[in-house]
Amino acid sequence: MSEANTRVTTGPSAAPKLGRLVVIGLGLIGGSFAKGLRERGLCREVIGVDLDPESRRLAVELGVVDRCETDLATACAGAEVIQLAVPILAMEKLLAELAKLDLGQAVLTDVGSAKGNVVRAARLAFSGQDVRFVPGHPIAGSEQSGVEAANAQLFRRHKVILTPSEQSDEAALALVDALWRELGADVEHMDVEHHDQVLAATSHLPHLLAFTLVDSLAKRSENLEIFRYAAGGFRDFTRIAGSDPVMWHDIFLANREAVLRTLDVFRDDLDALRDAVDAGDGHQLLGVFTRARVAREHFGKILARRAYVDAMHSNDLIFVANPGGSLSGRIRVPGDKSISHRSIMLGSLAEGTTHVEGFLEGEDALATLQAFRDMGVVIEGPHHGRVTIHGVGLNGLKAPAGPLYMGNSGTSMRLLSGLLAAQPFDTTLTGDASLSKRPMNRVAKPLREMGAIIETAPEGRPPLTIKGGQRLTGMDYEMPMASAQVKSCLLLAGLYAAGRTAVTEPAPTRDHTERMLRGFGYPVTVDGSTASVESGHTLTATHIEVPADISSAAFFLVAGSIAENSELVLEHVGINPTRTGVIDILKLMGGDITLENQREVGGEPVADIRVRSAKLKGIDIPEDLVPLAIDEFPVLFVAASVAEGHTVLRGAEELRVKESDRIQVMADGLIALGVKAEPTPDGIIIDGGNSLGGGEVWAHGDHRIAMSFSVASLRATAPIRIHDCANVATSFPNFLALSAQVGIRVAEEGKS
Ligand code: S3P
Repeated sequence: MSEANTRVTTGPSAAPKLGRLVVIGLGLIGGSFAKGLRERGLCREVIGVDLDPESRRLAVELGVVDRCETDLATACAGAEVIQLAVPILAMEKLLAELAKLDLGQAVLTDVGSAKGNVVRAARLAFSGQDVRFVPGHPIAGSEQSGVEAANAQLFRRHKVILTPSEQSDEAALALVDALWRELGADVEHMDVEHHDQVLAATSHLPHLLAFTLVDSLAKRSENLEIFRYAAGGFRDFTRIAGSDPVMWHDIFLANREAVLRTLDVFRDDLDALRDAVDAGDGHQLLGVFTRARVAREHFGKILARRAYVDAMHSNDLIFVANPGGSLSGRIRVPGDKSISHRSIMLGSLAEGTTHVEGFLEGEDALATLQAFRDMGVVIEGPHHGRVTIHGVGLNGLKAPAGPLYMGNSGTSMRLLSGLLAAQPFDTTLTGDASLSKRPMNRVAKPLREMGAIIETAPEGRPPLTIKGGQRLTGMDYEMPMASAQVKSCLLLAGLYAAGRTAVTEPAPTRDHTERMLRGFGYPVTVDGSTASVESGHTLTATHIEVPADISSAAFFLVAGSIAENSELVLEHVGINPTRTGVIDILKLMGGDITLENQREVGGEPVADIRVRSAKLKGIDIPEDLVPLAIDEFPVLFVAASVAEGHTVLRGAEELRVKESDRIQVMADGLIALGVKAEPTPDGIIIDGGNSLGGGEVWAHGDHRIAMSFSVASLRATAPIRIHDCANVATSFPNFLALSAQVGIRVAEEGKS
């Protein structure tokens, strides 16, 4: 083996050291690849090959390559890596020429934007012995072209897709992969067909549209006039029409089948939009535009999150809560999560347009909103908590194109399952890792008794697959657990079931569904612990004002109680009696909490709540308060930790199946902070009264655990580092900002 053919060795910087690199085709991409690797000193020599003498001259002058060769055989003799960066239609001829040479152990790779035709050409040229060819495609570029635009940083934080076959040589693949990573690229592997289809949709189609739009406008007689008035939109949309025409002509010819498939689908959508304009169908237009806008924002977030993940090398969002502080001020926490979910559901099923104010723009409620958009409901917003829902009536939902993704939200999945069990179309409900572990038999079982066909993953976990077109029959159901989600699920199914659907609860749970159904003019009967509906009525659009969420206010009720010298007012908080267990429990512990300015807004009672510091004492929590404070226990455990004496909670086994096992996860964290906490099967015993230490705790992706430990810092002696806090955005997106405003010293790690 010649020196130049030495395989990858690992230098002190752990970067591969190469002998000779040959880059054939010194355009923007080939030039940038050569220049980047040359500048990093990874190759003994970088040799360029190009048919154009001026490009060869410039490549040397600009330091893109060490030297150029005109003869392919001379250039490639003893090469370790040969990069093919010629136009895609020239690839076939080049591969045939290379196949005639003795390439030794050289690894071949390319940068073509379509992969199917290059892979076929390589197989043909090397008679199936193309194992050391690693097809690649850097998703980077600019509308500039030529070696003079070569940029060593061009691939930094850009994707490079490699499309190896099953026969590809593993060492060759690893080498090409490592070279792109050296240039800062984000390398992925994909099969050839998938690559070509994805690229046809995300790159080739947009280029085709930009080229045709500019050409179509430029051909018109009044073209000057049009371009004179063309503003930002035109410029943004058509930037890529400045790209290299020859290169793009090649790409469309090379990726013909995939481009045609994606173009046909797009043409149908464009025709539908044309028809809507023709028919003056504003509803259809608004539907497309609102869905597109959300999808665009969603992509933006995915891309931003990628950047975050890249920077931190993990998706662990850490909060650091510094000890001490006292609270003051007046704040309004975001809208109630339970009511926000229901406003979208009932607004979508109503006849007419429903306006919502104070909507919670957290990820859980947004998952519900997106699900209804996916089922054809036109929803404007949210914008500053305002949402406009163009209801489609009880029978107006349409089949979604794919599974409905519920994210972290148990409420979305359980309530929707009732509604979807009665629709004429099939649906699948999926969720994130936490939701995928949560029990769904509690809804699937009674829905099946009503005639629904629902499949779950083993042990009744998500995803849920619901078969449409079933005729449901109402029933009397005695819930085995106190769950508002199960009750609401069955009442929603009952809107479609023959006869009467009645749900009896073992203890009172939140009654927002019953209240809101009535608000939409749908009769609901409540008789003691039984709520019932009958089908055959309609929902009429209404106006909904969502009060601030008492479950979010709870963090500040505990914070204001345990921090010294504090006084805080929480404005416009929902105080529905099925939700106020946290106030009752804190008062039993000696909390100083008063309700001011009590009023009723849209069928829900609200108040401003004043909380002052208080010396708390441990209590036996009355079991009848458990369902009324079910989401507030994590932060109540923090109160119990600083309260004098024992606090005992029983009858709260439901806490073990929330977004995390809230009994175990809180006990683990409190013990880590030096608190004496003993989990029991259905509750916890906390021996409080001492100050808390600092340390590391884990939220396990549970929003309420993350926020509870932030509050704990007020009585800690050292900082608390809280891992896995990203899901705070599911229920309380501005928690950190409001905390800072009133005096809790918690922030994302690395940000003050
Ligand atoms: C909710 C009901 C409760 C609660 C959840 C929201 C609702 O769940 O924990 O955060 O909106 O109906 P369960 O019904 O499982 O108790």
